[in-house]
Amino acid sequence: MTLQSLSHLIKTRALSCAAVATVPLFTGGWFNWLTGPQSTFDTHGPVAKSQLDVFYVTLWVTGITFVIVASIMAYAMLKFRARKGDDDKAAIPHQGHGNPLIELSLIGLSVLALVFIAVPTLKAIWYNYDVPADQKAVAYEVNATGLQWWFKFEYPKEQIDGAGNLVIANELVIPAGRPVRVNLRTADVIHSFWVPKLAGKVDMMPNRGNHLWLQADQPGYFWGQCAEYCGESHAVMRFRVIALNEADFAAWLAHQKSPARIVAADAKLEGPVAAPYEFKNPGRNAPGWTKEFDDAPFVAWQNQQKIETGEDPALIAQGRKIFQEKTCVACHTIRGHEGVGSTAPDLTHIGSRTTVAAGLLENSKANLHRWIAHPNEVKPGNKMYVGVPSVGGNVMTGYLNIDKNTGERAIDPETGKIVKDHITVTDAEARALVAYLHSLK
Ligand code: CUA
Repeated sequence: MTLQSLSHLIKTRALSCAAVATVPLFTGGWFNWLTGPQSTFDTHGPVAKSQLDVFYVTLWVTGITFVIVASIMAYAMLKFRARKGDDDKAAIPHQGHGNPLIELSLIGLSVLALVFIAVPTLKAIWYNYDVPADQKAVAYEVNATGLQWWFKFEYPKEQIDGAGNLVIANELVIPAGRPVRVNLRTADVIHSFWVPKLAGKVDMMPNRGNHLWLQADQPGYFWGQCAEYCGESHAVMRFRVIALNEADFAAWLAHQKSPARIVAADAKLEGPVAAPYEFKNPGRNAPGWTKEFDDAPFVAWQNQQKIETGEDPALIAQGRKIFQEKTCVACHTIRGHEGVGSTAPDLTHIGSRTTVAAGLLENSKANLHRWIAHPNEVKPGNKMYVGVPSVGGNVMTGYLNIDKNTGERAIDPETGKIVKDHITVTDAEARALVAYLHSLK
């Protein structure tokens, strides 16, 4: 291949690559990128808006600089390029030592451009640091704690007799139109709290109290994500933020503070019992939501607050019993029922949440079944699956009982054999647990 045909080949390849690369800009990919559930371009509150404004100022200043510099460079390259017939042995042209006026002007312009970026950046940093002083009186306050791999949300203003703060998991409900200060903590490693459409992102650091504030201008449903690598299931450590108007928020708080719903085994409910749902394990990494939910998650959230039709009281009572027998009660709290543990998500009103497994799966019967029966295929390494070795040497039973130090199956120190008291869940038991958990509205 001659040098000329090689250069022609490179040129045509480069052109077709560039053409292919621009296709998404003019098709759905571009618009989805701008408005998708985790897009920072589709802001819904003042904090995210101020962060986007800084991005645009920076983009314009650097973009204009790029165009000017690249144009001058392209002009020089074309004008002074080697031409056919040029004498390649000619002496190099006279070398100048610069033009002081141009150089000083360029330094001045660069400083000006940096100042142009720095002023709005510093203003945004101050603005984003904490709730503005004139709005502190109306601000709401919550605590968010990151754990491998889920989020715990506490409401210090909502005290429950005998139980302290109102605690929920993975779905943070806030009042719309009001600033919310979020105190950020972690129970283990570094996590990062990020709600792309509202604000972000600030790290949750061990032994350090961080905070941020955010505000949703209108009621809505927003995606959140841990944004700091925190272990094998970091990418699936998600959460949701639901913003409600004042009346709905007050009603939601009152309901969440109430103890868990009780359905007696012999309760007479309206209508016939629903037929059993289909369940087939979709396997590792299978998506966990339907298009209907994805298209209208806020409507799904509102529907999720209602008691389901076709409940089976006997199955629900059976599920409550299995929840004790399988030792779920040791890690999960269900206020008013048997659950008292606090190392895992509070499940008092789990049936009213739209997602399970830290914002990863839509809270449908089949998905909850999948999470209970095959936890490690949904969220690898989670503590429900591997168990929790505690300080006193006792192992909190999981599905596998992995020894934290060796990474192997836990061994009983007295018999030297694999710990056999791990959790097992049959299909029938999972169905009863799903019926019970979904009854907890
Ligand atoms: Cu938590 Cu990444």
